[in-house]
Amino acid sequence: MLRRKIVAGNWKMNKTLTEARELVKSLQSLIGSDVQERVVLIPPFPFLGVLSSDLSGSSIHLGAQDCSAHAQGAYTGEVSAGALKSVGCSYVLVGHSERRGYHHEQETLLIEKTKQALLSGLTVILCVGESLEERLNGSQEQVVGKQIMSIWNALNDTERAQLIMAYEPVWAIGTGETASPEQAQSMHAFIRALIKDNYGDALADNLTILYGGSCNAQNAKELFACPDIDGGLIGGASLKADDFTKIVYSL
Ligand code: PGA
Repeated sequence: MLRRKIVAGNWKMNKTLTEARELVKSLQSLIGSDVQERVVLIPPFPFLGVLSSDLSGSSIHLGAQDCSAHAQGAYTGEVSAGALKSVGCSYVLVGHSERRGYHHEQETLLIEKTKQALLSGLTVILCVGESLEERLNGSQEQVVGKQIMSIWNALNDTERAQLIMAYEPVWAIGTGETASPEQAQSMHAFIRALIKDNYGDALADNLTILYGGSCNAQNAKELFACPDIDGGLIGGASLKADDFTKIVYSL
């Protein structure tokens, strides 16, 4: 997979179906067909099928916020990657810090989720990022490096080539405190260099690395101008059509 420009909107646990459809309608009229290809919308599970139909005439992609580590079976409440694919998803988030934190998701589980998603033909957006404490004690590169390597090492090169990385410092998510362009670029460059050193030039050069954490209509342009930032994973600011559109056009 070649390096891409992407702005993904992670709606988290927000909106009703009616509100979700209204937002999609607004985005389809605001975002020109020439840039729709860059956009991934990541709504709650129950809206995926309907929104997939609503989006049928556009190039906007659909993604899910999580998937099961199992292919199918007696796993009440879980949603399989195959089911996501069947309702029109092409992307899935794995390892978002809210899943790691609130649901205690660890690397072994994230490896299985990643493999299931890739087997079903989904593109995985693998999220990593350090806590405030880790940033303050200067261990952010060590922490993010370990998060990446523990999953990348368990995959083969074909699987690695299907991954997109999202760097989301936990201290910047939903806090209004964004990483500065220097802080974000420095981590993105570290990630690309880590991949280059361990898995070779081609995977590193083709890797798409998104920034996430209080990215908004005001700061997106500066962040996206950094050479190793290929786009954004947007939470709060993806819930308003005007703001999200501005972010898409900042790329
Ligand atoms: P935020 O969330 O933009 O609201 O900080 C980003 C994310 O968690 O993906």
